[in-house]
Amino acid sequence: GLLPPEEFSQVNGIILQKKTCDFWNKIWNFQAKPDDLLIASYPKAGTTWTQEIVDLIQNDGDIEKSRRASIQLRHPFLEWIRMTHCGKSSVYKLTVLANAMPSPRTLKTHLPVQLLPPSFWEENCKIIYVARNPKDNLVSYYHFQRMNKALPDPGSWDEYFETFLAGNVVWGSWFDHVKGWWKKKDSHPILYLFYEDMRKDPKREIRKIMEFLGKNLKEEILDKIVYNTSFDVMKRNPMTNYINEIKMNHNLSPFLRKGVVGDWKNQFTEAQNKQFNEYHEKNMADTSLSFYIF
Ligand code: PPS
Repeated sequence: GLLPPEEFSQVNGIILQKKTCDFWNKIWNFQAKPDDLLIASYPKAGTTWTQEIVDLIQNDGDIEKSRRASIQLRHPFLEWIRMTHCGKSSVYKLTVLANAMPSPRTLKTHLPVQLLPPSFWEENCKIIYVARNPKDNLVSYYHFQRMNKALPDPGSWDEYFETFLAGNVVWGSWFDHVKGWWKKKDSHPILYLFYEDMRKDPKREIRKIMEFLGKNLKEEILDKIVYNTSFDVMKRNPMTNYINEIKMNHNLSPFLRKGVVGDWKNQFTEAQNKQFNEYHEKNMADTSLSFYIF
C-alpha cells in the first residue's frame, strides 16, 4: 500500500506520522529525568502487555490503581503530538501530559534507537525494550494497519508483505530496529525482553522486570500480576484494550487480536516463507541477536 503523503513524512529516512515530524525539534529536545523509565519497542511487539506489567509492578499489584486511566494516558507516547480542536494554538500534548505527571514517570516510544532524544542517554534512564519474532510481528502489524485509521491502509496481504520487508512502514525497518536497540544494550541499562519468552513463562519475565525496577514483591503479588496481564483479562479490561480509541475499528480486527506465537503460519504462503527466511538470514548476519522463526 502506498502511504498517503499528507499524513506521513520522514525524519532521517524513517517514516513517521506527519504530526511527529512537524514537532520533531521538540521531541528531539525532550528533557528526560534520571528516574524516568522508558518502554521501547517496534510496533506490535508486546508494548501494551509490557506497559501493564510495569504499571502493576510499580503499584505493588494494586488493580484499582492500574485502572486509574487508559494505558495510553498512564504512559505518555513520545511521538504523540496533538493539536487542540478548539483554539488557535497547537498544544504539545506530550509535554502537557508528561509535565503533569509526578515522578517517577514511565514513557513509551516506538522510535528506532538513533532517533531517541539524547537526554535519555545523558540522564542514563532505565529502558525496557521488547522484541517479537518478525513473522508474527509482521502479521500483527498488518492487521493493526487494517483497523487503525491513524496508520496507512496496508493494501492486500501480498502488498503489505513486500512493504514490510522493504522497511517502508511507519517507524522503519523491523530489522534495523531490533538490531539497533540490541547493540545499545552494551553501553546502556536496557532490559531486552522477548514476546515469546513472556508467553512461555510470564512469571519468570515479570520477575526479571521487577528486579530491573529494583522492586521486591511477594509470590502471591507476582501471581496476581500474571493473571491480570493475561491476554483474556487485558482483552476485557477497557483500560488496556484501546476500546475508546476513536481511530481504531475493532470490528475489523481487535487491538488484542490473538496474542499467540506462530500465527504467521496461518498467513504466509510457502513462497513468502522461503523469501522471508532468506531475507532474514541475510539481514541478521551482522548481529549476535537471534530469533526463532520456524
Ligand atoms: S502497539 O500498538 O504497538 O502498542 O501494539 P503492541 O501492544 O506492541 O502489540 C499488540 C500485540 O500484542 C498482543 N498482546 C498480548 N499478547 C499476549 N498477552 C497479552 N496480555 C497481550 N496484550 C497484547 C496483541 O494481541 C497484539 O498481537 P496480535 O498477534 O496481533 O494478537
